[in-house]
Amino acid sequence: MTLPEIDLPVYPDECDAFGHLNQASFLSLFERARWEMLRGGPGMDVFTRAGAWPALRKTVIDYRAAAFPGDVLRFQQTLTHHGRTSFTMRQTARRVHGETLIASAEFVFVCIDRDGHPTPVPREFTEYVNASRTPTGDVQRLMVHGVSLAVEVQGEGPAVLFVHGYPFDRTMWRDQIDGLEGYRRIAPDLRGMGQSDAPDLGYGMPIYAADLAALLDALGEEEVILCGLSMGGYIAFEFLRHWRARVRGLILMDTRAEADTPEGRRNRDAAAALAREGGSAAIAETMLPRVLDPKTLAQRPQVAERVRAMMANTPVAGVVGALAAMRDRVESESLLPTLAGLPTLVVAGEADGLTPPDQARTMAQAIPGARLVIIPGAGHLPPIEQPAATTACLRDFLGSIG
Ligand code: MLT
Repeated sequence: MTLPEIDLPVYPDECDAFGHLNQASFLSLFERARWEMLRGGPGMDVFTRAGAWPALRKTVIDYRAAAFPGDVLRFQQTLTHHGRTSFTMRQTARRVHGETLIASAEFVFVCIDRDGHPTPVPREFTEYVNASRTPTGDVQRLMVHGVSLAVEVQGEGPAVLFVHGYPFDRTMWRDQIDGLEGYRRIAPDLRGMGQSDAPDLGYGMPIYAADLAALLDALGEEEVILCGLSMGGYIAFEFLRHWRARVRGLILMDTRAEADTPEGRRNRDAAAALAREGGSAAIAETMLPRVLDPKTLAQRPQVAERVRAMMANTPVAGVVGALAAMRDRVESESLLPTLAGLPTLVVAGEADGLTPPDQARTMAQAIPGARLVIIPGAGHLPPIEQPAATTACLRDFLGSIG
């Protein structure tokens, strides 16, 4: 089940002097869509019945295109975080005709009682929206450290844990999850990304790594081959610092061992400010040309659109949290020589401008016995840009681990 889509028309009295739907009306249409959703589910009085009121605490709206009188807008709503007394909804509005994205928004609510004190989110509301998040097929939801994470698990055999980068989600490993038969492929959405919960606070390399350890406990896996791309690599380093004995093999893809430079740290803060003001769509616009091989960008619009949508759909809280986690991460260069004896593969896209092949070469040289593979025709995202070549090089490496 997914939360129902709601169609609402734009009326002339909701528009400004130029005939555009005005900002106040946008907010009220988003609100109406939420109440309509409740009307079709547990009832509009679901909060009043429980003596709670969902008070709006924070709103981030990204206006993408104008809407005019007579347009019919289709509102989609998803729950991106659910806590004891608070929850976050992401809503999008598209023009029904042509499906143009008009606006997307994130709303953070805190339930309060009559005296204004925080009170639990009504159980009926929770059950209703959680039913919409019931995963299908190979995707499970597991509760770790108070956060509900989505994790895809496929196949039997030695476990391989795929850790995605920023601001992506587990679907970046689609081809590798589908293609690596003979292994138990485990691909979670990190907290704050994909279908996992996106709490407002509580991000950092230590907690991302601890989430992974807890996920493996829940799935009954003591040992894994750990495969991290970019930020996923930073998390892999952190995991190794704490749970080295649980790692049988290591794949470091388009990542780096250095901490951020002072300038890099300032850029993280600037990106967080951009996300707060312009939403994840603004981050997607600036990052898209940086993560793809220029040829992918120019010649493969479907690949570019898949990557752009993945980034634009990441909740703002998850984007801001990941930026702080990356800004504050410690260096891992001193860890590299200590990995002697751990089968390690370093992979880099030939046209990766963010973590260039030279950096991958230096990292591979610092890890005793590490192999290096450079993937032609890929930038920062070989699993998506060159899926078959990436899966093949992983298969070779996995086959070499005794
Ligand atoms: C990633 O892909 O995870 C990011 O590009 C990493 C970073 O910004 O350092």
